[in-house]
Amino acid sequence: MPTLPVVGRAFDRACDSGPCDAVPAPPFRYLHLRGRLVNLQAEPPNHALTDAYRAGMRRLAGAVSVLTVGEGTSRTGLTASSLTSFSVDPPTLLICINKGSSVRGELLARGVFAVNVLAAGQQELAERFAGMKGLHGEERFAAGGWTQLATGAPVLDGALANFDCRLDEVIERHSHMIVLGRVVATRLAEAAEPLLYWSRGFRQLDL
Ligand SMILES: Cc1cc2nc3c(=O)[nH]c(=O)nc-3n(C[C@H](O)[C@H](O)[C@H](O)COP(=O)(O)O)c2cc1C
Repeated sequence: MPTLPVVGRAFDRACDSGPCDAVPAPPFRYLHLRGRLVNLQAEPPNHALTDAYRAGMRRLAGAVSVLTVGEGTSRTGLTASSLTSFSVDPPTLLICINKGSSVRGELLARGVFAVNVLAAGQQELAERFAGMKGLHGEERFAAGGWTQLATGAPVLDGALANFDCRLDEVIERHSHMIVLGRVVATRLAEAAEPLLYWSRGFRQLDL
């Protein structure tokens, strides 16, 4: 049974016989819906809290990756700092993508993608794939060297690490999709330092 905070006995009532989609009566706040835990409580927007959340998140230093999908002229991709490891066995990564992003269609249609962890010298690529240079889709691939590993998704030469993935699951929630990728091939560059993003700017390690 999940151990998240639960109001009442929602899980006992709704899920004793496994995942289900029955809506429990109030005061139950969470529902175990087809294997997912969903918060049923609608909350009004709180702009002060949103601003404070943003300010807090700016203090989170993170690695910078480029997620890539497609082949030939259908290639597209975006810069993302939301990459994290999900599980080692099986090797699975997690990355959060805005539902409005241009990668969404190709990602869902092809079911394969790559994540390229950028090295310190690849800031220009991070800017391209973040839309900072006004480039879209295939245009973003005009810089850098690109190849393929197992799935056919584009992988970037010189990246600290390339993860070639099959789409495992997509969970749509609020503005974003939580994308789980089953890693089927990896490639590592020669030892290099990472590109980081912190406090609204690209950074490098200063060791
Ligand atoms: C450092 C950095 C990290 C980002 N991380 C994410 C992310 O994790 N998920 C996401 O959807 N967008 C992220 N973005 C924004 C996208 O890169 C940007 O909106 C991009 O233009 C989306 O591609 P599109 O315009 O083709 O849809 C990030 C941008 C920057 C600069």
